Amino acid sequence: MEWTRDLATGVELIDSQHKELIDRINRLFAACSAGRGKEEVGKTLSFLGDYVVFHFRAEEREMAASQYPELPSHKARHDRFVQDFLALKGRFEAEGPTPELVVRANQLLVNWLIQHIRNVDKRMAAYLQRRTPR
Ligand SMILES: [Fe+2]
Repeated sequence: MEWTRDLATGVELIDSQHKELIDRINRLFAACSAGRGKEEVGKTLSFLGDYVVFHFRAEEREMAASQYPELPSHKARHDRFVQDFLALKGRFEAEGPTPELVVRANQLLVNWLIQHIRNVDKRMAAYLQRRTPR
């Protein structure tokens, strides 16, 4: 997965965190395709999961600070993603990186993130920039 200009929200903090997220997602898939076992892949998943939570909280802080009206629905999307992520992580821990799980991880992580950034995060960022020009 690659960060491209069309994923730019224009808010530097958020864009740099999205790049870090993509980096950690790529490390997960690198571990999977290198044939790493459950334990190694589990570590890359934890490393990614920590950053997901850190990043979502950062966005939510920004939204709260500028009284963004869509904060509750945006946060609900984050929470739902974290639940799905934890379910996926649980399956990886139980089954290891099977081809089916890698496909599922790709759908959840890559597809979700791209859609979320393009729609939900860009809308948020446009509002943040109107409130606090940077
Ligand atoms: Fe978001």
